[in-house]
Amino acid sequence: MDVIETLRTEALAAPESGIVAVVKHGRLREGLIPLWAGEGDLPTPSFITDAAARALANGETFYTWQKGIPELRQALARYYGRHFGKRFAEEEFIVTGSGMHAIQLAIDALAGKGDEVIYLSPAWPNFAAAAGVAGATPVPVVLDQSGNGWSCDVDKIASAITPRTKALFINTPSNPTGWTADTETLKAILDLARTRNLWIIADEIYALFHYGHGRAPSFIDVMADEDRILFVNSFSKNWAMTGWRVGWIKTHPSLQQVFENLIQYSTSGVAQFMQRGAVAALDEGDGFIAEQVERARAARDLVCDILGATGKARFTVPQGAFYLFFTVDGITDSRTAAFDIVDRANVGLAPGTAFGPGGEAFLRLCFHRRLDQLEEAANRLAKWMKTV
Ligand SMILES: Cc1ncc(COP(=O)(O)O)c(C=O)c1O
Repeated sequence: MDVIETLRTEALAAPESGIVAVVKHGRLREGLIPLWAGEGDLPTPSFITDAAARALANGETFYTWQKGIPELRQALARYYGRHFGKRFAEEEFIVTGSGMHAIQLAIDALAGKGDEVIYLSPAWPNFAAAAGVAGATPVPVVLDQSGNGWSCDVDKIASAITPRTKALFINTPSNPTGWTADTETLKAILDLARTRNLWIIADEIYALFHYGHGRAPSFIDVMADEDRILFVNSFSKNWAMTGWRVGWIKTHPSLQQVFENLIQYSTSGVAQFMQRGAVAALDEGDGFIAEQVERARAARDLVCDILGATGKARFTVPQGAFYLFFTVDGITDSRTAAFDIVDRANVGLAPGTAFGPGGEAFLRLCFHRRLDQLEEAANRLAKWMKTV
């Protein structure tokens, strides 16, 4: 028997990322403009790295609080206070080893073998895959698409609920579609969760990358204290900290001890010097975020203008997050197209096949990048489109 055959079936079934296959194909190409990953091109700003470096130099290298240092949890409460206009308590926050780790802990807490979890598709693939690893069944509900853009039919979510359903995973603004739930939709989803006794896992990681007025609508705007909602979030996107692997959960204070235990038996906590950097991000980073969002807005408009002018690219202008999810007339197989775009346009895109049901015909372009490079990439894509 092969060694590998003795592993758990769920571990063996964990899918390889559909984005990575294209990255492997193109990563060493001279002059390739990589727009396939979900991150910007700027390194973490120095007010954050300096705070972490100071803490490291000061010997903050020991085991620390599993649920996060009090200073960071207090800073999270202040940050929420500023952005959501309510009062929040330190006890509502738990520091995690990335947004992905927050998602994994949420699944650990809510769903296992035999359970179902519903998510909206097309979707960033990691939630469904992590649910699968835990033994739960991820059930996609495909967003509707019309000339007006993406929308969520809450009746479709209701029809997908079974006695085994434990949670609804709602990512708004969405990676990859940019769909951003309005307050009415959030209320309808919350009502459904309340009547069917379900948890909501709210992934509002891109809430500040919103191109309307101010941040995107949030479950925080419509919920009551006793609602069963786990917010999963991350330092990755707002503060250009993707490589740090620091995130958080916000939920009911009564769950603190459970999550502290789950963290103890997974990562055992986030390095204390990194948490000092995270405190600086929260307390001093609002200006940096505002600049990033304006830069991303300009980038979005530039890419939409150039690709829109081809007459071959179809998309709705994303209202949130930093991705353009588009189809190209005549292209149905996005995986083959993404390889061809690497070969002939020297641009790296993520194929829609990586984002599950409803995404197959699309390509995802991350526009959180320098304008001159984006302009060059969009022009190369426009040229490529003329040949297909
Ligand atoms: C919707 C969404 N949720 C969560 C994450 C996880 O972020 P991280 O693990 O980098 O903190 C990502 C990253 O791409 C994402 O797009």
